Formats: sequence, structure tokens, C-alpha cells
Amino acid sequence: MCGIVGYVGDDKSLEVLLGGLRRLEYRGYDSSGVAVLGEDGILGTAKKAGKLQMLVDELAQHPIANGATGIGHTRWATHGGPTDRNAHPHLGDDGKLALIHNGIIENFAELKAELTGQGETFTSETDTEVAALLVGRAYRDTGDLTEAMRQVVQQLEGAFTLLIMHQDQPGVVVGARRNSPLVIGLGEGENFLGSDVAAFVEYTKRAVAIGQDQVVTIRPDSVQVTDFDGSQVQADEFEIAWDASASEKGGWSSFMKKEISEEPDAVANTILGRVHDGSVHLHELDVFGDLLTGIDRIVVIACGTAAYAGMLGKYAIEQWARVPVEVELSHEFRYRNPILTPRTLVVSISQSGETMDTLMAVQHAAESGARTLSICNTHGGSIPRASEAVVYTHAGPEVAVASTKAFLAQVTALYLLGLHLGRVRGTMTTDAAADAVAELQAIPAKIAAVLPVAAEIAQLAHWMTEVQSVLFLGRHVGYPIAMEGALKLKELAYIHSEGFAAGELKHGPIALIEPGQAVIVIVPSPRQSREMHAKVVSNIQEIRARGARVIAIAEQGDAAVLPFADEVLPIPLAGPLFEPLLAVVPLHIFAMELAAAKGLDVDQPRNLAKSVTVE
Ligand code: F6R
Repeated sequence: MCGIVGYVGDDKSLEVLLGGLRRLEYRGYDSSGVAVLGEDGILGTAKKAGKLQMLVDELAQHPIANGATGIGHTRWATHGGPTDRNAHPHLGDDGKLALIHNGIIENFAELKAELTGQGETFTSETDTEVAALLVGRAYRDTGDLTEAMRQVVQQLEGAFTLLIMHQDQPGVVVGARRNSPLVIGLGEGENFLGSDVAAFVEYTKRAVAIGQDQVVTIRPDSVQVTDFDGSQVQADEFEIAWDASASEKGGWSSFMKKEISEEPDAVANTILGRVHDGSVHLHELDVFGDLLTGIDRIVVIACGTAAYAGMLGKYAIEQWARVPVEVELSHEFRYRNPILTPRTLVVSISQSGETMDTLMAVQHAAESGARTLSICNTHGGSIPRASEAVVYTHAGPEVAVASTKAFLAQVTALYLLGLHLGRVRGTMTTDAAADAVAELQAIPAKIAAVLPVAAEIAQLAHWMTEVQSVLFLGRHVGYPIAMEGALKLKELAYIHSEGFAAGELKHGPIALIEPGQAVIVIVPSPRQSREMHAKVVSNIQEIRARGARVIAIAEQGDAAVLPFADEVLPIPLAGPLFEPLLAVVPLHIFAMELAAAKGLDVDQPRNLAKSVTVE
């Protein structure tokens, strides 16, 4: 959850660290700090609770010397509240070693008790300070920072990325990772470490992903990677495909606004290069050989928004490839001893590629003999690395904490998977496949046609700032969209909201309807199913009769809805299964506009972090 950046090079550490932290702030934003080995040979540190700007202000008031070696951190609190004292870096007991940390050290209480017994005192409530004291001691014994790191990580349990530097070791930063991300950036006469490439993309496009249980030592002119035992390992270099400007706001008032405007491109870029002669070919799946015709079940694992994408994938894959699909929240999956065989394909979905719940579920699936495929937006993330194959979504970097364009790219990737499987399993006619592909390819232009309703939605949101609760109803593929709409509204506007299957209403939730209750209904296309459409229109009448205020998202020209809805937000016509890719867009805009109308920070909602690297 925390953001980490490390630098060795010339005397510009502070610029690199603060620039990197600004790009990483989406990961955690309740406090931040830096340590720099100044030109004067003294280790200077600054740390502050609150947004990064508080640290910048602190540095303006109490400057520290710039230098050629430094580490920086932006925190999402786990152990101990977001205070100046708990912010990172933490120091060894002689004040010469600085350490920053992402993750949770699960055995910190035992280690802390041991250290306390040996006379150490603690200045914070964090698990991190334990590691700082241990590494400081190990360095005193060994005189070697890398060796000190190796000795300490072997004592730690849990998930962590650690970076350390020492006043007596100019030009050296050492990192280590277990179940938590860390990437190297390769420069000319300078090198970088970061939780993700955003930390250093301004300076270099060359990156190396560090594997599980590895230690890395960077110096201005060298990079050395070993495992925890000290054996050299070969790390793979890759090129960062996006430009630093892709993670900048670029004139938009928020990242979320920018990212919603990029939803058409997220879909188009995910399709790009994967359709040939009207059919889908995912070459990434070649590693599975004949397995794809032999699988008897697909299990999709994901969390939050990614899980809703998975639910949509179930409708499409079952329809096109005729293979049963189950969708399960990653954190529920491995604790119930799921039935997995070599004929089960486990498909994980993750924007960040680092969600710990999903990573653990993938590892469990692989250990249980299932085959693993990930759908991911982040090159070299831990989840794709733990999977046999990966289908990358090409949504570009997503900075706003709540996922928008990545959701559309995930659904697109799942639909491509369904169409690929339909082809290789022979469950779709060529014509049906070509029609579905054409529908998918038409989606970006249709989303672009939905985006201009933003002004109308902003007006609607403005009138709704006082509402206490909003319900979302959908049926069939509209159901996951109802849940996605409700999740976005909760996390951005802090308004209680629930998504229901419309058919479930009469089994309980209708008791919530009272005069004035806002209900957003995703109306299915009458062309897809007259019956389903009629049922949802009846549901609207039922809640309207009880005083609900109804906002309908319906296909353009759906006259049946007009008499019963207070507002209708029209979406273009799309083929069966494809309308969720359009219906979700007004819901993303609605949540963002309502949060903005309430004066909230839409990019960094309270209590959240972009990359959830703790279980
Ligand atoms: C909601 C949201 C989260 C993420 C979830 C999974 O807007 O962003 O629910 O979808 O935390 O994250 P990833 O996709 O990174 O695994």
C-alpha cells in the first residue's frame, strides 16, 4: 500500500524522491518522509503526517542537505496511526541507518519483545522500527549493508518491501522484497528503486522486476540481485511502455476525470493486435497448448471492482465458450479449501498486479495443481509473475485510487478470453464470433458518445449532495454494473449505497424504499430480452409506487421507461452482453461528480489505497 522510492546517482536525491513520491502518492497518502545522505556526509531525514505537501512544506521550513543517495516513502498506516512519529523512515539505534517499509511484519511483536528485553527502546508504534533496529545491529556486526539486509529478512515473517541506506555507505541503497512489489530503474550513472515504475519513469524507461525473496543493491554504476541466501540471480529487464506524461493530470481537474475520459482508449488498446480476420487470437495462451479444449471449469478470482469485471466475464465466457465459470473474491477463495484440478483454469484479475489477497489466491491455486492465467494492467507485477500466462490490459497507468478505465479494460480482456476460448473449443459459429468481435470493436466509439452526458450528470449530482443513501438495481449483466455503481459511490462520495439484482427486490430490499429514496436502475435492452426488459420496467413501477426517485440508465429510444423514471440517462444501442461496457460509464461519472459536488478529493478518498498489498 505504501509507496517506496530509492535513488543513487548525483546530487539531486531530493528532487528524485519528491517527484517519485508525488507519482506514488496514490498508493498511500496519510504521511510521508525522506532520508538523504547530504553532501556534508550527514544522514538527514524529514517526515510528516498528512499529504505529501505537508512534507514539502516541512522541508521548506527545515531544509535538509541534498545529496546523491536517498530513500523516500509515502505511507498507508497499518501499525500505529498516521502521525509524524510513525511516518517512515525509521532509524537504527545509532541514528545512522534509515529504513522504509511497505507491508506487514507479522512476527514484529515477538521481535519487539526480544529487542526490548535487550534494552532497545522504541519511538513509534510501527512494526517497521523493529526492522530498522535489527538491520542497524546487523550492519554493526557485518559492516556490509547487503549482508545485514539478508540476515534480517530471514528473521521476518509476513509481506514486506524494505529499503535501507547508511550514513557510512554513500552511493548504496539496498532493497529486499517478499510478497510486496519492488522494481529497479536503470539509468546512466544513476539507478533507482520503486514500488512501481511510476517512481522513476521521468528518468528512465529501462526497468527490472525483482523476484520473490530477493535482495537488490544499487550503486550509481551497478545493480546486483541475489536471493535471500546470497546466490546471484538473473533478473529480466523490460521497457516501460508509457511516458511520464501518462501519469500526469495534464490539465484535467482530477486523475479520475482524465481516466474516465480515457475509457474509450482503454478498451480500444486492449483489443489492439488481438483480432485477426474477425476472430480473436490471444497468443499469450499458447503456453497452455491443448489444455484450453480440455478445461472443465474456470474459476475467476479478484477483489472489488475487478471481481465485478469477473462477474461480467462469467456471462460472456459461459455464453461463448460453454465452460462453467465461478467467480470468487480472492480473500474468500483459499480459506475454504476449493476443489481444484489440473483441468481447472484459475483466472485472476488485478489492475495493480499486487493485490495481496489475489496474489495469495493465485499461489494457492498453483500449489493445488490448477492452471493459472492472470489479467493485469501492470507489467511485471507480482500476480502475473506468479501465473503461468498473462493477458495484459492496456489501459495505461491508473492513478486515481478508484478504478475506472481499468475496469473497462478488464471486461474487454475477459470478453477477448471468451471469444478466444469459443474459437478454440469450437463452441461459436464463425458468424457469431465475427458479430461479437464487431460489437466489441464498436464499443470505444460508443463510450465516447456517452461521455458528453457528463454535464447532465454533474447537474443531477449537484442536486443530490444531501442524499443519505442510493440503491442500484440491475438484472443479468446489469447486476454486476449495479454493484460497481454502488461501490464507486461509497468509496468516492461516502454515501451509503447498495447494488441489488432487480429480481431480488421483492425478497427483502424493497422494504428500504420510502418516499424520496434515490434508486438508479440499469434497464436491460428490450432487443436482448423482451421478457427481462419488461420485468425491470415492472420493478421500476413497483418502487415508484412507493415513492422512490428513479434514475434509469436505458438504451436510447427506450420509450417504455420514460413514463416511470424521474431521469433517464441514455446509452447507445449495443449487442447482447455489450451494454454493461456503456452503462457503467454514467455511473463512474455520477460517483465522481457527486463526490466533487460534496467537495471531496476524488483521486484520494479517505482510508483507501490504490494497491492493497496487505491481506
Ligand atoms: C474500486 C477499486 C478496488 C480494486 C480492488 C482490486 O474502485 O479500485 O475495489 O478494484 O482493490 O484491485 P486490483 O485490481 O489492483 O487487484
